[in-house]
Amino acid sequence: MTDEQLMECAKEAAGFSYSPYSNFAVGAALLTEEGTLYTGCNIENASYGATNCAERTAIFKAVSEGNRKLQKIAVAAGDGSTAYPCGICLQVMLEFMPEGIVILEENGELVRYRLTELLPKGFTL
Ligand code: THU
Repeated sequence: MTDEQLMECAKEAAGFSYSPYSNFAVGAALLTEEGTLYTGCNIENASYGATNCAERTAIFKAVSEGNRKLQKIAVAAGDGSTAYPCGICLQVMLEFMPEGIVILEENGELVRYRLTELLPKGFTL
């Protein structure tokens, strides 16, 4: 699967977003090292802190099905803006894809970041 296709999957996943509080839809599409695809969307809650971001939804789906080796993740905002992953999601990415690539869209163009560029000094044990 190409990065462009992965981004299309992320955009499609944003369509499933449950975000009545922020009205900000996010979708993510994740590829494992084996090439399995997982998608996710943000899922909000009336108790705001219970909200789960799109990236973590996709990552938790993969890990909960036995896939811990993750290769790359595309993230898309439903409104076409650039959805930079939040700090919590970056920390979760560090756990399962420390060498991974984050694919975003900036001004309509696909851009690729190493996770270590977005989180240069992440916490590890
Ligand atoms: N959100 C994500 O899904 N991913 C991010 O990395 C940033 C924020 C969601 C959480 C919340 O539902 C909405 O965007 C507004 O913060």
